[in-house]
Amino acid sequence: MPKARPKELLDLEDLALHEGATVLLRRKLGQMAAGEWLEVRGDSAEFAEALAAWCRKEGHRCDLAQGVAHTYRIEASAAIPATSTSRTEICESAEPSWGLAPRGARIEAGGPKFGFTLREKRDVWARELNAIYKQAVAGQWSAARDIPWNELPKLAPEVETSVAQIMTFLTENEFAALYVPARFIARIHPHYREVVEVLAMQVADEARHAEAFTRRAEAGETGLGITAMSGQLSLKTLVEEPDFTTATFLLCVMGEGTFLTLLKFIGEYAPDPTTSALALLAHRDEARHVAFGMEHLRYVFEREPERRASMAAAVERRSRMLASISGLSPYVHDALTIMAGGGVEPKQIRAGASRVAQLHREMDRARRERLQSLGFASEAATQMSVYHTKNFM
Ligand SMILES: [Fe+2]
Ligand SMILES: [Fe+2]
Repeated sequence: MPKARPKELLDLEDLALHEGATVLLRRKLGQMAAGEWLEVRGDSAEFAEALAAWCRKEGHRCDLAQGVAHTYRIEASAAIPATSTSRTEICESAEPSWGLAPRGARIEAGGPKFGFTLREKRDVWARELNAIYKQAVAGQWSAARDIPWNELPKLAPEVETSVAQIMTFLTENEFAALYVPARFIARIHPHYREVVEVLAMQVADEARHAEAFTRRAEAGETGLGITAMSGQLSLKTLVEEPDFTTATFLLCVMGEGTFLTLLKFIGEYAPDPTTSALALLAHRDEARHVAFGMEHLRYVFEREPERRASMAAAVERRSRMLASISGLSPYVHDALTIMAGGGVEPKQIRAGASRVAQLHREMDRARRERLQSLGFASEAATQMSVYHTKNFM
């Protein structure tokens, strides 16, 4: 019999271990320090044998010598060591062995080490993550429910073909914008869950955009258009960018930033309310994606201002890789011109071409403005905007 007086008493009455008595035993023992004694009373059948076997399995010492009938003593063993992480304090570096534990949970020692390669805060973090995520959740729309498909008129064939070509181009770009964050999500340590959540919403947004743009192309009589080799070459350099910050810069700041201007243009010059509504809903989502990119880059540049030079180099490098591409795919250029002019009459083409030229100027202006707000000097911003892919994304 142990000398120390029992710290706690637990009367299980006739509740057998296999009926759930272990829940109560674990609760009591879990609140006790190692070496303290728990007195247990129980009069279910073969209680002593079952209790002894359970204690052996759980690593508790058990004293079955009965002073009082049906009363036994268990010595609490040391709890499995656990690491505590704070829910609110975000660590600069996250341990691989924290694994999938939610931030703020206690993490049992001895767990496996996960291979998350993005586990430094400065590699992934951004301000405003909670606000961006909240807006994303509140702003989800449905391609089936929220687009006025029944307002789609029968358009002149050349205009419908142009819209379908633009939708084809948009869909290719949506896929790129889906794959880039999707590739990185699996590499980001869950300690930085807010980043993972924002990117997951981004992936869902892009899936919806791809679905909706494809559906618009297929809703007309011409169906999907042509995917240009030049566009694919450009998107491949984006999808294959291995560095998270560089990929976020190229996609969210340069590419999706440029797309904001494009989607606004389509919203304005679309020949039908269905296409216009679609472009404006996608624009709203893209504004959030751009906001994430800007906030991430701001966070990185505040800590490592020299990374501005590596972003500028990445834009230039991509431009050199795409040197064989002379400009925007003619399919897309011509489709935008016809759509913006409203048809193929010479005067319509003149108006459309002028609007597309204005679109390019506005894209360039907005890119330079965004870059300057990230702290790039005016000349650097101008040069980077010129180097940016002619295929917009
Ligand atoms: Fe998108
Ligand atoms: Fe996007």
